[in-house]
Amino acid sequence: MSESPSQSQPNPDAPQLPCPSFVATDNPIGEKCDVLIVGLCDDAPLSATAAGVDQALGGVISRLIGQEKLSSDCGESMLIPGVGDEGSQLVLLIGLGEKSKLDREAAFTLTSTAVRSLVSKPHEKWVIALPECFDAVDHDAIVAGTLYGLEGQSIYRTKSPIHVPQTIAIASADAAAIDRGVILGDSINLARRLVNEPASVIYPASFAERAAALATEVGLGCEVWDENRLAEENCRAILAVGAGSDKPPRLVILRHDGGPQGEPPIAIVGKGVTFDSGGLSIKPSDGMVDMKCDMGGAATVVGVMRALAKLGVKKNVIGFCGLAENMVSGSSYKLGDVIVTRSGKTIEILNTDAEGRVVLSDTLDVAIEHQPTAMVDLATLTGACMVALGNEVAGLMTNNQSACDAVIAAARGEGEPVWQLPMFELYNEKVKSKVADIKNIGEGRWGGAITAAKFLENFVGDVPWVHIDIAGPAFADSPKPHRDAGATGVMVRTLVRWIENQAG
Ligand code: BES
Ligand code: MN
Ligand code: ZN
Repeated sequence: MSESPSQSQPNPDAPQLPCPSFVATDNPIGEKCDVLIVGLCDDAPLSATAAGVDQALGGVISRLIGQEKLSSDCGESMLIPGVGDEGSQLVLLIGLGEKSKLDREAAFTLTSTAVRSLVSKPHEKWVIALPECFDAVDHDAIVAGTLYGLEGQSIYRTKSPIHVPQTIAIASADAAAIDRGVILGDSINLARRLVNEPASVIYPASFAERAAALATEVGLGCEVWDENRLAEENCRAILAVGAGSDKPPRLVILRHDGGPQGEPPIAIVGKGVTFDSGGLSIKPSDGMVDMKCDMGGAATVVGVMRALAKLGVKKNVIGFCGLAENMVSGSSYKLGDVIVTRSGKTIEILNTDAEGRVVLSDTLDVAIEHQPTAMVDLATLTGACMVALGNEVAGLMTNNQSACDAVIAAARGEGEPVWQLPMFELYNEKVKSKVADIKNIGEGRWGGAITAAKFLENFVGDVPWVHIDIAGPAFADSPKPHRDAGATGVMVRTLVRWIENQAG
């Protein structure tokens, strides 16, 4: 395969991920800085730092609140002059809403919101005094939320709209919480960056190289199957989807050996379609424009594996990324093709745009060979899931209710919205084919998220398995106060917690 130099070279100007240095401080008011970030709650007295600032500024905060010119409504903010030369130049007051509602998700989201209101200006040092407002929450969420707010899709803007401060001091958070928050924030941002990079930069081989470099850096095992190995392994489904592209497919296997030797692993599997043109069943431009995001599941797997390694989670976990580019050419896979998958099951291709499940058929088959105790797959799989649940909620489908309940519990703990869809047997016949074992589309559009999951169920054996359709939440077309548009890094936090919960 020949690759033009412009496509095989990573962009030399691609900027690095944000990397401020985090420090702890016990004296937020006395810390010299550009901005001191202070939270305000409804129905609660001013926090110690807010009260200190209020006193230093002659009662201005209480006065403004009394005059209803300053509110503690969730996400509202006001920038006021700071306490002077030996303290902050400015104070950002951020409304946190009702104190009783301040959970882990609020800590992450409201910190990110506060950060995003500051990043357009070139501040060198922030002091974040939010932990004292979140006494019932682990403060790593505040640190992770800080990093989350510093990453966005503007990676190729020559004048970056995001100024990353050199130093961020966190008040009354312990060093362990800061370390953990940095690991989580960086891992989520890595997943986001992989998705936000264009498909000419991130294609199967370059994704695999990034994963391999990460593995070396953080101490993960890594195996990359190139197109020859994929052929030896009978991964004809992955090869079929990649056949129309100049960029050959890959399968990446990342291994975190955190548990006892020989203990069966947990498996996490990601759809890594680095660009989904639809293939011969080509998408219209409107549907194709964001399809660099179609490797979001694989990016989440990489982000989670990084976090597990850096956190030293005591569990064996293997991550699998099925990587292919779905393109149009004389060698594209075709409608009517029948593929003998690695598992031996045969699939009839009736729409080349239903390629994610085809890539996953072989990827799941490789994963179950490792006899995992539980398996989750993540995939930007169906527009139908977005029709069912909207674009902020991930769809869950399972062959094992208690495995699914464990994922739901983890998601709830992190505040990432998920909703389960049924897997009644009556759907099984909708993916049966007249010429092969199964076909890669259902009967018409109805229940499209579920028929896709039913297709996948053919390749998971009797492993307890949860399928997470992230077509909606993986990639946002508009910004929110707490995050930029583009990649969201959805499900990194949930899966890290789900795995930690199993590590006991
Ligand atoms: N990658 C798409 C699904 C998708 C759509 C993800 C929008 C993110 C945002 C997937 O490969 C696809 O094209 N699915 C088809 C399946 C259909 C042909 C059965 C779809 O959803 O229309
Ligand atoms: Mn598709
Ligand atoms: Zn796709």
